Amino acid sequence: MESQPSFEQLIKEDRATRDSKKWRGTLLEYLELVRTDPSHTRLAHSRVYDMIMRHGAHDILETEEPHVKRLYKDESVKVYDFFGDEFFGIEKTLSQIVRYFHSASLKGEESRQVLYLMGPVGSGKSSLSEKLQRGLEHLDPVYAIEGCPMFEEPLHLIPRHLRKEFEKMLGVHIEGDLCPVCRFRLKEEYGTRYEEFPVVAKYFSKRNRTGIGVVPPVDPNNQDTSVLIGSEDISKLDVYSEGDPRVLDLNGALNVGNRGIVEFIEVFKNETEYLHAMITATQEKIIPAPGRHGMVYVDTVIVAHSNEAEWQKFKADHTNEAILDRIVVVKVPYNLRLSEEVKIYQKIIRNSDFRAHVAPHTLEMASMFAILSRLEPSNKCDLMTKLKLYNGEEVVEKGKTKKLDVQELRDDTKREGMSGISTRFIMKALDNALSDNVEGNCINPINVREAIINMVKEADLADDTRKGHLDILQDVLHKEYLERLEKEITKAFVYSYQEQAESLFQNYLDHAEAYVNKTKVKDRNTKEELTPDEGFLKSIEEQIAIIGSAADGFRQEVIAYLWAGSRRGEKISYRSYEPLKEAIEKKLMTSVRDISRIITKARTRDEEQEGKYDAMVRNLLEHGYCPSCVDVVLKYAANNLWKD
Ligand SMILES: Nc1ncnc2c1ncn2[C@@H]1O[C@H](COP(=O)(O)OP(=O)(O)OP(=O)(O)O)[C@@H](O)[C@H]1O
Ligand SMILES: [Mg+2]
Repeated sequence: MESQPSFEQLIKEDRATRDSKKWRGTLLEYLELVRTDPSHTRLAHSRVYDMIMRHGAHDILETEEPHVKRLYKDESVKVYDFFGDEFFGIEKTLSQIVRYFHSASLKGEESRQVLYLMGPVGSGKSSLSEKLQRGLEHLDPVYAIEGCPMFEEPLHLIPRHLRKEFEKMLGVHIEGDLCPVCRFRLKEEYGTRYEEFPVVAKYFSKRNRTGIGVVPPVDPNNQDTSVLIGSEDISKLDVYSEGDPRVLDLNGALNVGNRGIVEFIEVFKNETEYLHAMITATQEKIIPAPGRHGMVYVDTVIVAHSNEAEWQKFKADHTNEAILDRIVVVKVPYNLRLSEEVKIYQKIIRNSDFRAHVAPHTLEMASMFAILSRLEPSNKCDLMTKLKLYNGEEVVEKGKTKKLDVQELRDDTKREGMSGISTRFIMKALDNALSDNVEGNCINPINVREAIINMVKEADLADDTRKGHLDILQDVLHKEYLERLEKEITKAFVYSYQEQAESLFQNYLDHAEAYVNKTKVKDRNTKEELTPDEGFLKSIEEQIAIIGSAADGFRQEVIAYLWAGSRRGEKISYRSYEPLKEAIEKKLMTSVRDISRIITKARTRDEEQEGKYDAMVRNLLEHGYCPSCVDVVLKYAANNLWKD
């Protein structure tokens, strides 16, 4: 076993790194730091943008995965590693967020607007906002005026009349003025010797309310702006005279979020007065100080979010126009790609205490339901086909891959991804399936589908929505799962499936090529010259309904396709050409379908059958089933598959 560091070692190392970043000096010393590295004075948006970009970005097409390439063709979509293994299938949303930070970092109009995330429940709005905050917490500390309740930029100490000169010497722009508390301290303690004012390095921290502020929706009857801008400490009002800043508690969310981020949760639940404070903070970069203390400069990224219904309600009210104009809306729809939806649940499970076995296809089937519920119907194809196309899969119909442009399908929709089943709903269903099967300690497609059906029946849904969901579950999904299950069990009966498929494929190629070129086939072993075996070719083609005159065309297509592939240096296998792959798999299955059916359904088996059955079960166990779910799915298959 690899030796682990001791606790003591870990603690000491951590302290050493933190200590090395501790810093306390004067403004004068800080100026020298800025001269060597002007990035210390970055404003909030630019800090967040750099934080994201530092992790790297690449084009989505720089991948080996053919289905991703198929999906994006020559569209240029960037993938940002900062969001990397936490967010799936919402690349467009992420790139809009990054674009916002990019133009804001260039001090464009965006830097004076609220970033507003709008999407259905459980689409990841809170998680996105949290991710940005966590990112800040991992950054190196920022330099701030010591003791300032708003951790303000030390350059604010430079008097106005000297700023031009300092800016020239430092190569930075100086923006903003001292807060009332620091202004008072400067006057009282340092007089004109502002260069001696102490400066410290401060880490961002959500819990300590340093550089990160959060505004939960507030009770509408009790909207007190102190949550945003702080308050006057009444007990001190007796001690100090009116207008003395020592009575100020600048601890509102907009105060503590200075230099970093302020998050507004369910933003439109708040009174308009509240929203005006938010807008002024971002648009003018100032907020009022409580009482009669003038205005305070703030520099922060405001991230707000809510669901679409609240957005629509807010938007419909004309009196809100001024606010609307100062908001950058980024839609956070549900993911619509099957492979990515599965990754979402894998992530949530990984981060939770969920410790049960997850049978093969379970998360796929649950994800399939979630996505089908989110898709808008199209007159070009059925929902399941759409799901597969959105997933970058090839759909074979009548021996041909379906030629439907994903982009066109998407363009036809209105608000696809903005409604349907949420990630949270599915997670609850997985939990429910597990509590119904505590002793098996395993969830599988069968108990999960049941759990979802029960939840849909109990959920507060419109009648036709409920009916739609149940149709998907009881019909579409049921069929899809049975198809997969039959394939899986039958496959488990075929000894060394992969080799057999490859050998059928090679044979097919040899014979089809000779047929097309009107030449002979050389037997690989005996070197005999044979005429192409048309009977054999047909036995494969008929699996996908290619018969009669269609066969010639199909053979030519196969050869041309694979030729082109191998010229591009692709490795050719039975999986290379989707229609042929399907034909070969079907052919292999047909050869064992009967014994598969008989043996699986049988109540009693003879010795030979018993041997085959055991081998099949072993095969399934090797392929991800556990003793509990293998039992469940085989019983299910016996009862539901191969019905006469
Ligand atoms: N596209 C996605 N990629 C990764 N995880 C996701 C995605 N969508 C949702 N999730 C996960 O689903 C869960 C719910 O998301 P979250 O709480 O962020 O949603 P929300 O949009 O804030 O919902 P609400 O409107 O109900 O507050 C989280 O664990 C989140 O990480
Ligand atoms: Mg949320």
